[in-house]
Amino acid sequence: MTPRFDDSSFTVAIVGCGGFIGSHLLDAVLERTRWRVFGVDLDFYRLQHRLNHERCEFLCADLADPAVVERIAQFPLVVNLAAICTPSRYMGEACEVIRSNYDHPAALAEACAKSGAWLVHFSTSEIYGKTAADSGELVEDSTPAVFGPVTASRWSYATAKLLAERFIAGLPGLRWTVVRPFNFVGPYMDFMPGVDGEGIPRVLANFSTALLRGEPLKLVNGGKAKRCFTSVHDAIDFLFALFDAGLGCALSFGVGDSPDAGCKTAAGAGHSGRDAVGVSKVGAAPNAGVSKVGAAPNAGVFSQAFNVGNAENEVSIAELAQKMRTIFAKVRGVDVSSLPEPQSVSGEEYYGAGYDDSMRRMPSVAKAERLLGFRARIPLDTALEESLSWFVKHYDVAETCHCEEP
Ligand SMILES: NC(=O)c1ccc[n+]([C@@H]2O[C@H](COP(=O)([O-])OP(=O)(O)OC[C@H]3O[C@@H](n4cnc5c(N)ncnc54)[C@H](O)[C@@H]3O)[C@@H](O)[C@H]2O)c1
Repeated sequence: MTPRFDDSSFTVAIVGCGGFIGSHLLDAVLERTRWRVFGVDLDFYRLQHRLNHERCEFLCADLADPAVVERIAQFPLVVNLAAICTPSRYMGEACEVIRSNYDHPAALAEACAKSGAWLVHFSTSEIYGKTAADSGELVEDSTPAVFGPVTASRWSYATAKLLAERFIAGLPGLRWTVVRPFNFVGPYMDFMPGVDGEGIPRVLANFSTALLRGEPLKLVNGGKAKRCFTSVHDAIDFLFALFDAGLGCALSFGVGDSPDAGCKTAAGAGHSGRDAVGVSKVGAAPNAGVSKVGAAPNAGVFSQAFNVGNAENEVSIAELAQKMRTIFAKVRGVDVSSLPEPQSVSGEEYYGAGYDDSMRRMPSVAKAERLLGFRARIPLDTALEESLSWFVKHYDVAETCHCEEP
């Protein structure tokens, strides 16, 4: 454990802690650090095994509530994962999606700017917009974005996320980092419709559900769109590289000191760095670990957006379907030919009016590698097998019970 992670008086606030990424981050913080966790969510059903953990405080609350926002911002490090981020909701619930992905994060960012907390905000690879099949690498600070028309309400999510990024970047005094995930996959992702959720989950849970129910996998518009699927474990490793660098940077200079060269690109760098990461202003307890940190500061982790993705894991959705059929057959010990073939379906038919898509999303991973030494490592087949095995194990019983209902 590095000294930065050794401080038992340091608290990280994880907003959206009960979700897919949040539950993995919570586990990793408890396993890799001595930190405390202040977890906020509307629902904690994934976290039953952690609810009584001595280093956790959980608040079942809505980020729409200004009192909740104020409370969260009192912690030195705030990771905001809370969002409506299920594609099927972008069409029918555009206004809610925009409130969730712009209004609430903007209010939290303002509160963090006032308190001095470091805000790690989860955006999305969708902010790159309607990319074509032959589009190249998406580079954080240079790739332009084009979105579909206002009638295609699928873009409600992406445009709200993009506006939130711009708001965060424009807020004076805020210490921020934006994360743009590229299709994370892993255990605990989404839900099984009719068992522990309603509607259409994201593609991994969607295909897993169909496989478990012996139904054909539905390929929207033939499944030609390509994505780079990334293991959630790589995503968590990225966050730890970020925390390590950011906390080292913020703690490495004192009030009145000049920020060292590594921190010069940080917005508001200078004495606010010490305030920002849990020394005097923040949280319930002072941060006893500060003086122990012999940091090797890292350039520019603040005021930066990072792609987090695995460029080597690119597949079309049709290829993903075939891979998942093969893995499912292996997990279940059956012949793949016994599983139904995938079926093509139109986007409008599947998701409803307002559907649209981007055809390729290939992350540039150079910035995370350059500034954090981070590169995703887990191959697609490994990530899919882990995810699908978890899904089968977790839902087999539930599904059996569900199917046997009168
Ligand atoms: N998983 C991915 O591949 C991916 C891709 C792109 C972007 N993201 C972004 O990463 C973040 C986390 O994604 P995830 O996959 O863990 O999603 P998730 O849906 O599993 O988790 C989000 C959590 O936020 C909670 N939440 C939503 N609104 C809330 C509110 N008003 N108050 C309190 N809690 C609220 C939900 O209950 C849920 O537990 C989101 O911002 C999402 O947009 C994820």
